[in-house]
Amino acid sequence: MNALAVVTGATSGIGRATAFRLSAEGYRVIGTTRDPSRVTNLLPGVEYIALDLGKPESIALAAQEILARGVPEVLVNNAGESQSGPLEELPRDALERLFQVNVIGHIDLTQRLLPAMRAAGRGRIIMVGSMLGSFPLAFRSSYVASKAAIKGFALAARRELRPFNVGICVVEPGAIATGLSQRRTKYVDRQGPYAAEFGRMLAKLDTNERAGISAERVAEEIMKPIVADWPKPHYACGSMSRVAFPLSRLLTIQMMLRIVERKHGL
Ligand SMILES: NC(=O)c1ccc[n+]([C@@H]2O[C@H](COP(=O)([O-])OP(=O)(O)OC[C@H]3O[C@@H](n4cnc5c(N)ncnc54)[C@H](OP(=O)(O)O)[C@@H]3O)[C@@H](O)[C@H]2O)c1
Repeated sequence: MNALAVVTGATSGIGRATAFRLSAEGYRVIGTTRDPSRVTNLLPGVEYIALDLGKPESIALAAQEILARGVPEVLVNNAGESQSGPLEELPRDALERLFQVNVIGHIDLTQRLLPAMRAAGRGRIIMVGSMLGSFPLAFRSSYVASKAAIKGFALAARRELRPFNVGICVVEPGAIATGLSQRRTKYVDRQGPYAAEFGRMLAKLDTNERAGISAERVAEEIMKPIVADWPKPHYACGSMSRVAFPLSRLLTIQMMLRIVERKHGL
């Protein structure tokens, strides 16, 4: 039987492109969505199951359903919320939801699948982070922190999983044209002290996203650690990642932060 791959958030953008690519490479693919009955653009060869990372009981159920179909060889933790707003104005419930969906939800799912993957003696776990997790941007602090957190989990756990041939890594996309800007959650007082700069940053961010590389290109990057004999800790694509990461080893953090600000109209 073909190897099983799981992709969270497989209904649009990067997750959909990755599920498509894995299926084309011969994997049996389980894709997740919060509501399978609303998926209109079903990918042939991909089985959709329900998963809401915001709800622990949904994560437990999804893990059960996955394990009933087999032991995953590949887990792509891709689903996520893109949140924005000045730190001072981020509501506590929005922060808690973001960290549940972008961080704890994925760790919970990983913990539930990992024992079987470890026992099978082969696996790849890909955390889809963001270049913003490495290069922070103003008015995106909660999102930046969630992506830095997921990267931290991946890099720290690498050594733990190595003896069991389970490779874990982070893939950090830059600006990707997936239409994500329309789904971004925004928390800002339109009459408040941050409104003008927030608006300027957001306009640039959305323009960058629309001009970004394709989701298919990110799927190609996600395939690299999957097919490698052993995955590297970190992969990135888009937003001049090939220049940005080497440059960050030469410049000070302050200089890098300034470059990111300027790229976003600040
Ligand atoms: N686009 C970019 O520029 C960019 C850049 C860097 C990093 N990323 C990261 O790449 C990943 C995918 O982004 P994308 O642009 O492809 O986004 P997208 O097109 O909006 O897709 C997000 C996916 O996540 C699922 N999802 C949303 N909330 C969920 C929840 N609470 N529980 C479970 N699933 C949920 C959605 O599925 P349903 O609606 O069907 O549930 C959807 O399939 C995200 O982690 C994002 O942060 C994107």
